[in-house]
Parts: sequence; C-alpha cells; structure tokens
Amino acid sequence: MLAGKRILIGIGGGIAVYRVAELVRLLIKAGAEVRCVMTRSACQFVSPLTFEALTGKEVHTELFDLTTERNMGHIQLARWADAVVIAPATANILARLAYGIADDLLTTMMQVNKAPTLLAPAMNSSMWESDATRRNVEALTTRGIRFIGPESGQLACGEEGSGRLSEPENIVSALLPLLTEQTLQDQRWVINAGPTAEAWDAVRLLTNRASGKLGALLASAAAVMGAEVALIAGPGTPDAHPLVKRINVTSADEMLAACIDTAKDANTFIATAAVSDFRFQETHSGKLKRNDTKSMNVELIANPDIVAEVAAMYQRPSHVIAFAAESSNHTGYARSKLEQKGVDAIVANDIGNMGSERAGGWWVTAEREVPIDSESKQAFAEQIIQHIMELES
Ligand SMILES: Cc1cc2nc3c(=O)[nH]c(=O)nc-3n(C[C@H](O)[C@H](O)[C@H](O)COP(=O)(O)O)c2cc1C
Repeated sequence: MLAGKRILIGIGGGIAVYRVAELVRLLIKAGAEVRCVMTRSACQFVSPLTFEALTGKEVHTELFDLTTERNMGHIQLARWADAVVIAPATANILARLAYGIADDLLTTMMQVNKAPTLLAPAMNSSMWESDATRRNVEALTTRGIRFIGPESGQLACGEEGSGRLSEPENIVSALLPLLTEQTLQDQRWVINAGPTAEAWDAVRLLTNRASGKLGALLASAAAVMGAEVALIAGPGTPDAHPLVKRINVTSADEMLAACIDTAKDANTFIATAAVSDFRFQETHSGKLKRNDTKSMNVELIANPDIVAEVAAMYQRPSHVIAFAAESSNHTGYARSKLEQKGVDAIVANDIGNMGSERAGGWWVTAEREVPIDSESKQAFAEQIIQHIMELES
C-alpha cells in the first residue's frame, strides 16, 4: 500500500531521533520514496549522514541554503509529499506548528504543506502533560492533524510515564489510512479467520492447517479503507492492522457465537475461517491415558455451518461472502454452495493455498464467475474487496 508513495519525514530534536532510522528503513522496505528534513536540534542527536545513507537522498536541514533552495526548496518539498510524518515531534515543534511560527525549514515547509500529516510526539511526560502542550495538541487536532502516541513506558530519561515515541511499525500502520481513499467509511465489516480447534482432552485437539493470513489481510485492508472491522480470530491468526478489533476464539461454537453477535449490524460478513467440520462427541477434562490400547473408535459430531447461520440471520449483513477450499471442480462446487449456504458470493480457491504464500481463485456469484490471479495474498485480498464493493447493496 506504500509502494511509490512519497513520504516526507520531519525529524525533531529529541532523544528518540535514533528510532526514526528504523521508521525510515521500514518505509523504504515497503516501497515508499522517503525524504528527510531535520531540525538543527535533531542534528545534535544524530548526524544527517545516517538518514542520507538510509534514503540515498540529500537530507534537508537549512532554510537559507542557496543550493538546496534552487534544487528543492521549502515550497517544492511540501508539494512533493503525499504525506508528512514528524517524528519525534518535540514540544517545541508542536508549539511552533500550533502558532504558525515558521522559523526554520521544517516549520516553514509545514506552512505550505497540504498533504495529510501525522505527528509522533516524544518527550518527557511532564512536558507532554504540561498545559501548553495540551493546548497545542488540541489546536492541532482541531485542524485535522493526526497524532500517533506517545506511548506509556520507560522514557529515555529513565522516568516512567507517557511520552515514548510510538513503535516504528505502529507509525507505519497509522500512516496507511492517511494515504488511502476512505471508500469504506461508515461501513462495518466482520471477518472470521484461521482454523478452529476442538478439544478432545486436556492436551489433544482436532484442528487444520489454515494460517488465518488471508482473513487478517482482508481485515487490515478494509480497516485502512475506512471500515470499522471486527476480526474473529481462530488460534494462530496473525495480527491485523491496529484499527481492527480482534476477538480471539478457539472452537467452532465460540466462533459461531462471536460471529452472530458482531454480524448483527454489520454491512459485510466474510467467512475465511477453516472451521472444523466436526467435533468430539465426548470430551475429557484430564489427559486420556494410552495404556495398552492398540486402536480406538472416536465419535465425531457435525459442527454448525457458521456462514450459513449468519446468512440466515433475521437482520443479516447486506453481503455475506463464503470461502470454499477445494481440490477439484472448484467453481462447480462453489456454485452449488451459493444456494445451499444462502450467501451472495463464494471465493473458490485451491486447498494448496492453505497455509502457503500462494493466492488465487475464482469469484463466484449467481450471475458470474471471475478468475482472480494474484502474485500475493495481499493483492488477492485487495481484489476480493474490490469485487465485494461492486456487489449491489
Ligand atoms: C538531551 C536532550 C534530550 C531532549 N529530548 C527531548 C525530547 O525527547 N522531546 C522534546 O520535546 N524535547 C527534547 N529536548 C529539548 C529539545 O531538544 C529542545 O526543545 C529543542 O529546542 C527542540 O528543537 P526542535 O523542536 O527544533 O527540534 C531535549 C534536549 C536535550 C538536551
């Protein structure tokens, strides 16, 4: 989602400057083009050379520099950016931005900047809680400038409290919605993901190889596009974007209860979870002993069909999408499941996708059947969202 985006990082003079190097590295790894502006105080903590080496670009530090101003001055810098991140945003920078003071390159550029802006403050907790900083943060928030953090914990000065620079990964996550059209704003999506696990005894489980990766990617992508998203996550499902509300479950019964509860007023429900078809008729609270047993018959009973139950709800989501993993006749089976489960679309895919990085399949509705070819699960997730958005509401 960051590929080709132009991100300007404003770096303030706080002790957390060294952690911004990791932020720059992550952005570049994600395919963004990064330029850095450092305040004079920032240069006291870390040399501009660090950021020049990371970005491969000149680091901008001076407002009154003839060469820089001729090549890419404060006006062009601001217009170049798709988004601006200031990290660490010092108490001093917050004050200068709040009052429109333009006395160095960064703050002068910010007077010109119209791109979405994210401030990541970092300072001693007394500075963060001071009346002046409170007022400045409020003024900037009112102007539509977004904040990430600061987080609570051990501060560089050795004290405990609120004022730590947010983790670089969290700053990148917070940046994504600012660079993405909010096409799913005001929508509520519920997505289930991962395997379920049915307990037999205190240590043994009936489960499957699903990774939950695709469900987590779908949840993240929908949240970044502005939807309010709940992810009903089976064991081992990876973390989704911090905007996603995660509900952990283990068994199919727990997953069903969480899905029914959250899907009540949702617009879209997507069932990516590989729900165990069966569970044990009889379960044991302790660990079963093997003793000399040579063979054993165990009775299994069918689990509920979660997506069919959601599709049959009295106030069902407008769009209910199921996934079907098959080893052959993918679209044929998908078509028969459409009616049987009462869903609006099925994403048919091959069982080979399960637990792997591979992706691809078919989007099957009553009217059409479209192949989805993707190089990655991320691209697969984005194409599925596109198809869902094209469904009639
Ligand atoms: C060792 C040291 C650490 C500092 N750390 C911070 C900090 O974490 N956050 C902050 O807001 N100011 C911090 N300051 C104060 C700023 O460096 C000072 O306010 C400076 O004027 C900020 O300049 P700038 O906002 O132009 O970068 C620190 C100062 C020193 C000497």
